[in-house]
Amino acid sequence: MLNLTERILSLAADLTPRLIEMRRTLHRHPEVSGEEYWTTQQLKLWLTEAGIAVLDLPLATGLVAEIRGAQPGPVVALRADIDALPVAEETGLQYASEVPGKMHACGHDFHMATMLGAALVLKAMEGELTGTVRVLFQAAEETASGAAALIRAGALEGVTAVLGAHNKPDLASGHVGIKVGPLMAAVDTIAIHVEGKGGHGAIPDLTVDPVVAGSAIVMALQTAVSRNTSPLEPAVVSICTFQAGSGAHNVIPPSATLLGTVRTFNPAVRARMPELLERIVTEVAAGYGARATLRLMPGGTPAVMNDAGMADLMRQAAEAVGMPVSEAVPTMGGEDFAEYQQVVPGCFVWLGTGCPESWHHPRFVVDESVISKGAALFAQAAVLALK
Ligand code: NI
Repeated sequence: MLNLTERILSLAADLTPRLIEMRRTLHRHPEVSGEEYWTTQQLKLWLTEAGIAVLDLPLATGLVAEIRGAQPGPVVALRADIDALPVAEETGLQYASEVPGKMHACGHDFHMATMLGAALVLKAMEGELTGTVRVLFQAAEETASGAAALIRAGALEGVTAVLGAHNKPDLASGHVGIKVGPLMAAVDTIAIHVEGKGGHGAIPDLTVDPVVAGSAIVMALQTAVSRNTSPLEPAVVSICTFQAGSGAHNVIPPSATLLGTVRTFNPAVRARMPELLERIVTEVAAGYGARATLRLMPGGTPAVMNDAGMADLMRQAAEAVGMPVSEAVPTMGGEDFAEYQQVVPGCFVWLGTGCPESWHHPRFVVDESVISKGAALFAQAAVLALK
């Protein structure tokens, strides 16, 4: 009689060709955030064919599946994101995107195949499970809105822990990166409007130039991190859009609009950013005789903050299935997996794919041999979490 881990490994190994085929099918049909209708139907088809229950939740795209153990017990959630990107694929792969200008360039097809694999493995063992494994196939990760929608739909009701992963091209293939505490940054978006007075480019003394005031604001905002935030606390303020003028070379425009992103790990640092940035923006503008307002856009996501107990559980799971573990290198990128961790303890890990190009690149690829390894890892982690 094989023990549970041996069964998981053997089931996942047998599923390898099927999971790769599923991933390639998904890869051919990328859909961007909020438009994952075909993807949702395809996932539903595969899951129901396997006898896995799909919950009836009010969701336009994305779905929640459940594997119910023979004995009642806790509910543990596994999460995969399902959306693609507006990127034109240049991999030249035989199963490349069939949709012009769209591509699974972040590997969410890989995440879906991995969690489908975990679901199929767990389904084959449901007679031995005590409790329920809920698999969240989440839409709209790239727009950071899908996790909140799943929570509103009730996907976390009764859930005691949530586990998830992102592929990591610069981590060795088949390695798992695990870290307690912050792994990915809180993401906030700021919009700045600078109001000046337009006029002739040759007569600046009769204008209030919003381009000059806006430029000073961009420079001054660099001090929000360098002079106002502890050097021991990671933070980034980047102004990524600066719009002013109408294309004329000799017209000083009346106003300018700036858009930027604010990234932080520590919730206390995040909390004081809006007031600090607003002070810099309004007072620098005033120094130039202009008026500026700063707006913090709604929908910011908190930092991915891994629970120590759940991180330890992922470490145990990785060791059990024979995947090498390393300390995860954090990134200032964001992930709305963080929303789930506001509700229940969870852990988000890196799954190394050892590939040359990074996320969102037109020649981004994944190592498909990691799919069934990841499936075994998450099946094992779910079994541990149910204990
Ligand atoms: Ni991604």
